[in-house]
Amino acid sequence: MALSDVLAGALVLAPMTKGSNLPFRRLCVELGARVLVSEMAVARRLKQKRRSEFALIRRAPDEPCFGVQLAGTSPDEMAWAAALVEARGADFVDVNLGCPIDHFTRKGLGAALARRPQRVRQIVEAMTRALSHAPVTVKIRLGWNDRDRNFLDVARAAVDGGAAAVFVHGRTRDARYRLPADWEAIGEVVRGLSVPVVGNGDILFQHDIAEARARSGAAGVMSARGALIKPWLFVEHAAGRDIDYTAEDRVALYRRYVALALEHWGDDAHGRERVREFTRWHLGFWCRYVPRRPDGTYPRMQEREPQPFARTPLEALLARNDAAALDWLADTLVDERAIDPSAAPAPSSSGGDEAREGALEARG
Ligand SMILES: Cc1cc2nc3c(=O)[nH]c(=O)nc-3n(C[C@H](O)[C@H](O)[C@H](O)COP(=O)(O)O)c2cc1C
Repeated sequence: MALSDVLAGALVLAPMTKGSNLPFRRLCVELGARVLVSEMAVARRLKQKRRSEFALIRRAPDEPCFGVQLAGTSPDEMAWAAALVEARGADFVDVNLGCPIDHFTRKGLGAALARRPQRVRQIVEAMTRALSHAPVTVKIRLGWNDRDRNFLDVARAAVDGGAAAVFVHGRTRDARYRLPADWEAIGEVVRGLSVPVVGNGDILFQHDIAEARARSGAAGVMSARGALIKPWLFVEHAAGRDIDYTAEDRVALYRRYVALALEHWGDDAHGRERVREFTRWHLGFWCRYVPRRPDGTYPRMQEREPQPFARTPLEALLARNDAAALDWLADTLVDERAIDPSAAPAPSSSGGDEAREGALEARG
């Protein structure tokens, strides 16, 4: 199927370092995700045959449409890496033009590369030539900062180079996650290009998708944190309405993640340690789920709930984000024990905010 057909009306799972790990993508597929993007892989590290980088580009057997995201600055290296990931099953190959982290931007990667539209064009052109069937896409931000919002230039350069679709995260590099995503600007990209545009930023409920599409005219939407917080976003998208998962429903999902993760990393001491680490990391997002409030209003991605309400002791436990609760929940899930809220440890003073802060340093 052509990429434009796949993206029309789609809810795409965003590329996320750590977050878009293979077992999490499989969970999302089971919940109805149809288009998924890998973690960011660095072309040079693939060329150096680093095993950890090859793990990032692996396709899950059941993925309907799988994009691999690459980072690099050299057209030759990116073309080589694109051919490699296509041979290993990628359905499309995406270029990271949004990574804000200094470690990468100092090397000219990610958001720094987006400051050089002509180089972007050359990279996309070289990749397009190297690929036999997989289309090239790019994922951009609005620019480096508010004084340098060059999103139209860089998007056009990518399309001139042969990009078949553009993903737009509606914030600048400097804004990180401080401001809400600018869906009007995403609309400018939609109107300025001849290829499908998928908008990205702050999707948490079904009305967010409807509003975002109405404001921008985007072909589809992409979610990162929303899908981490509530992986059943994909179930809701298929149903066309919000679904309030009970605490028990949520625990069943988390247990399913652990089972998929054990399948992936192995059910031995080493594998279980990995699964524990990833489950603990995911719990840092899972604890953020807040349903529609009793007064009928909705939480928004950019706001912290002053006082999350909990309807049951289990829901209150799942909302805790202190380190003691997250560690205990991770152990309990990975050891496949029953969760008894009355047996949970007292809250620790150290917050569980590392995962969240880590995410703020995310690569896109
Ligand atoms: C944990 C985490 C890791 C991320 N890693 C990447 C990445 O590797 N490549 C990328 O293009 N964007 C990455 N991003 C950015 C997201 O893809 C997305 O653009 C951003 O979070 C805005 O979408 P949201 O409001 O739905 O979270 C990451 C985001 C998160 C939360």
